[in-house]
Amino acid sequence: MKVNTSLAEEEIVHPSASFWMRICSTQRRTELLRVTMYKNDPHSCWQTDSPRIEHITLDLDADFERQILKGHAEYRFDRPLDDELKLDTRQLNIHSVSAIGAAECGVRYTLGEDAGFLGRVLTVSGVRGLSVLRIEYSTSPDASALQWLKPEQTAGKKYPFMFSQCQAIHARTVFPCQDTPAVRFTYEAALRVPESLTVVMAAESLGSQREHGKTICKFRTSLPIPSYLFALAAGNLVSEELGSRSRVYAEPETIQAAKWEYAEVDRMLDCAEGLFGAYLWNRFDLLHMPPSFPYGGMENPRLTFLTPTLIAGDRSLVSVVAHELAHSWTGNLVTNATWQDFWLNEGFTVYAERRIIEAMYGEEMANLHSVNGRTALNVSIADFGENSPFTKLKTDLNGVDPDAVFSSVPYEKGYLLLVAIERVVGRAEFDRFLKAYIHEFSFQSLTTEELMQYMKTQLKGIEKKIPLNDWIYKSGVPQDAPQFRSRLIDEVADVRAKWDNGARDLQTAIKNWSVQQKVLFLENLPRLLSTEDCSKLDSLFELSKTRNCEIKVPWLCIAAASSYQPAFSAISEFLGEVGRGKYLRPLFKALFRNPDTRQLAFDLFAKFGERYHSVGQAAVQRILAG
Ligand code: BES
Ligand code: ZN
Repeated sequence: MKVNTSLAEEEIVHPSASFWMRICSTQRRTELLRVTMYKNDPHSCWQTDSPRIEHITLDLDADFERQILKGHAEYRFDRPLDDELKLDTRQLNIHSVSAIGAAECGVRYTLGEDAGFLGRVLTVSGVRGLSVLRIEYSTSPDASALQWLKPEQTAGKKYPFMFSQCQAIHARTVFPCQDTPAVRFTYEAALRVPESLTVVMAAESLGSQREHGKTICKFRTSLPIPSYLFALAAGNLVSEELGSRSRVYAEPETIQAAKWEYAEVDRMLDCAEGLFGAYLWNRFDLLHMPPSFPYGGMENPRLTFLTPTLIAGDRSLVSVVAHELAHSWTGNLVTNATWQDFWLNEGFTVYAERRIIEAMYGEEMANLHSVNGRTALNVSIADFGENSPFTKLKTDLNGVDPDAVFSSVPYEKGYLLLVAIERVVGRAEFDRFLKAYIHEFSFQSLTTEELMQYMKTQLKGIEKKIPLNDWIYKSGVPQDAPQFRSRLIDEVADVRAKWDNGARDLQTAIKNWSVQQKVLFLENLPRLLSTEDCSKLDSLFELSKTRNCEIKVPWLCIAAASSYQPAFSAISEFLGEVGRGKYLRPLFKALFRNPDTRQLAFDLFAKFGERYHSVGQAAVQRILAG
């Protein structure tokens, strides 16, 4: 479906979206929602049978000097409140809580004990019968969702930059909320920033105005989102059109490179719609982030955030864009009910991502990606230990910080399960199932058990053909997990066999290799190589020169594990520049595990740790704690 993106864009939405909005706007919403009792989310104080936030109005000042957001949030609930309301908060200063349009003398609040990564529960009492509340508050400079960058940490070095990263449970450090993926709300926001800066949000822009040396930018959403998809960024941003439904935002210094790298995004969007149905979010804009952004990409609705490490100059890393785009269906429409069901978001999204890759670049290329995914899965399982509960698809995260157990398991084991199912029922039947699943559960949150129940009704007898319970509730990967064949994979296996037999003169054999083939080769080499082999490997793949992080990082890991001194300055330079978790984790692990380089790991973290986002810092700290 092509969507008109003129000024009145929000008036033109897909029929099923407007159907949802009609439900939202009436009391019938609760009746029409599936009557399913979720088990409570262990990461939120929201109780499944209590009123839900339906709409939030934010009015916030971004104070770059003090590195805080300050202002108020107004909440509308889907039904009158009981005596008490509980909201998730962390690192927030609450200034006042008041009723709107009612006698407010009875409203009181307390902040509960600090429960670490869960934060402090805000309990508001004396609210019986109210359905609108206002909270005055400010964030803390340490808010785990927000990173405030000094001008030196940006591409242009002249203006500060700030951004949010709310997934999984950091939205509560930006505003008090029901910080669970099971509750969806719409919002509107007015943000005040220094005049020289531009604000972007994962929402529709309603324009901006200047007032007393400040710019006020307004936004609103019309489709409801869970708290983890709330997102904003502010900095010296410009934009370039990529197509009728997408543009890229970046600092002026990087905008042209970003524009070139992402030029295919419109074609990708058309292709994804062909596979999964109409794109309901109207726009698919991209935000090119500063290098400290801790993820490859984040699927914030209408505005995907992307690491600058995707700018390889050859469009070789756009599978991350395909992944974030795929979340527009799997994740942003159909959402995991709790972070214990995270594989529902990520396993389905990796599946959808590789279907996009297959449609755009062919099956051989998609299978190459799958094999690289399998290598990453094996590394995660080896790190956790094969019997670790965190190698299960359904995890028990009571008392566990979701960030602390982030790994390839929900992504790649989830993907393998879906491919296993696709292979027994056939592609056509699986496609029908996928579309029905998305249609049935759009704008809802789902547990693994609910998915399984649905799957059994749609794909009759599936549980007899695939040991679904083993896949979901047992650790490790079943022996008969799907395997992938591709000429591109065979070429790599061929060269690897030659390498193992002592051949080093392999330039001709690898001359036309794609980036993904090089990744496959490098990620599967033993980490410990002789100095001579390190040097041969470097010249074979021109590793010292490469700007492509997917190739550079496995190389730097090999160099660290092998105590290969000539690459140490490159390791230091890289860790001083890039804060993406996917690269920090293996590199710090490699340095930490080698007794020769363990001290270097501590030294580099002492030197550069402050530059990383709090999520990146915490990931490295866990590694250095042994
Ligand atoms: N939603 C995730 C990022 C995320 C997950 C943030 C959990 C916070 C908590 C995003 O869609 C993602 O999966 N990003 C991947 C890239 C992808 C191609 C596998 C990443 O950042 O590496
Ligand atoms: Zn994802």
